[in-house]
Amino acid sequence: MAEKITLSVIKADIGGYVGHSSSHPQILDKAKDLLAEAKAKGIIVDFYVTNCGDDLELIMTHTKGVDNQEIHKLAWDTFVACTQLAKELKLYGAGQDLLADAFSGNVKGMGPGVAEMEFVERKSEPVVIFMGDKCAPGAWNFPLFKIFADPFNTIGLIIDPTMHEGFKFEVHDIKKDENFFLSCPEEMYDLLVLIGSCENYIIKAVYKKDGEIAAVSSTQKLALIAGRYVGKDDPVLIVRAQAGLPAIGEILEPFAFPHLVSGWMRGSHYGPLMPVAQREANPSRFDGPPRVIALGFQIAQGMLIGPRDLFDDPAFDYARKEANRIANFMRAHGPFEPHRLPLEEMEYTTLPEVLKRISEKRK
Ligand code: F6R
Ligand code: MG
Ligand code: MG
Repeated sequence: MAEKITLSVIKADIGGYVGHSSSHPQILDKAKDLLAEAKAKGIIVDFYVTNCGDDLELIMTHTKGVDNQEIHKLAWDTFVACTQLAKELKLYGAGQDLLADAFSGNVKGMGPGVAEMEFVERKSEPVVIFMGDKCAPGAWNFPLFKIFADPFNTIGLIIDPTMHEGFKFEVHDIKKDENFFLSCPEEMYDLLVLIGSCENYIIKAVYKKDGEIAAVSSTQKLALIAGRYVGKDDPVLIVRAQAGLPAIGEILEPFAFPHLVSGWMRGSHYGPLMPVAQREANPSRFDGPPRVIALGFQIAQGMLIGPRDLFDDPAFDYARKEANRIANFMRAHGPFEPHRLPLEEMEYTTLPEVLKRISEKRK
């Protein structure tokens, strides 16, 4: 049987430069050195290190399967070493996503975001890795639905015999920690009842009807893990492409519309998700607007051939312009909903203190 390869994307905000806007080059170099050592020792097959805003992104291939302790420890140790350097440079919020003092077997629940999938490499294995900053994991619900279930986005669902039967969605109820499996097109309306509520139900994975993995996202909710504000989750997503799966162009197409996501300033606002080249993923205006980057790789015997920076394309100029226009419109609401998130979703609040103070003055 052909050997399976695992693609693991593990990320954390271990310190921002400057403020929460981007990452320091020395941090990226440190992470590259550590993963190069791990590659030389044969722990991983290949790796690519990048950043989306203030998030350090470790993209790794190996043969150890998902949730592997050695791989998670490698990521954790890399984040810890980078945090050490971030502290020396007094970068902003150094170590902000490392919520535990010591590694306990799996980085899930310890702060970092994780998306991993295991598969047998096809004759050619194109994948897209999406990485977001200043947004919550629900940001992928809209594009994942469009990619795998909307024929107005993905013509392959209609005219490609190998895609015509549709796809199966795994939806995670992040508040109750339960999973649902829903098939499209048969259960499309049921699926939409759930995933339209991006703060509660998050698409965790998408499969072909025969069970082959097609996409997987990170669904950690830092605020729920820590029980207090620790930043928005800035999620990642892996999507496999072509030959019975959506084409690269069908996978990128939903991002031509900069849909509203929660995040932005203080993790407490709705704003447009702006698709940008990696070099432009440095959110500045009002700490945003939220960004998404898309790196494409061909995987060959576990080697990451690439990346191609897929939003580095004038075809996405209009989406960026539109995002700026929507950003202006949303910003004009100032502290009012629906720019500011509803009370229960805000990551920062002064409401209890204010209510207490004004209730003392109540007549
Ligand atoms: C949002 C984010 C930033 C910060 C903001 C305030 O995810 O990271 O918008 O919330 O810059 O940061 P602090 O409270 O650290 O000064
Ligand atoms: Mg930060
Ligand atoms: Mg971030």
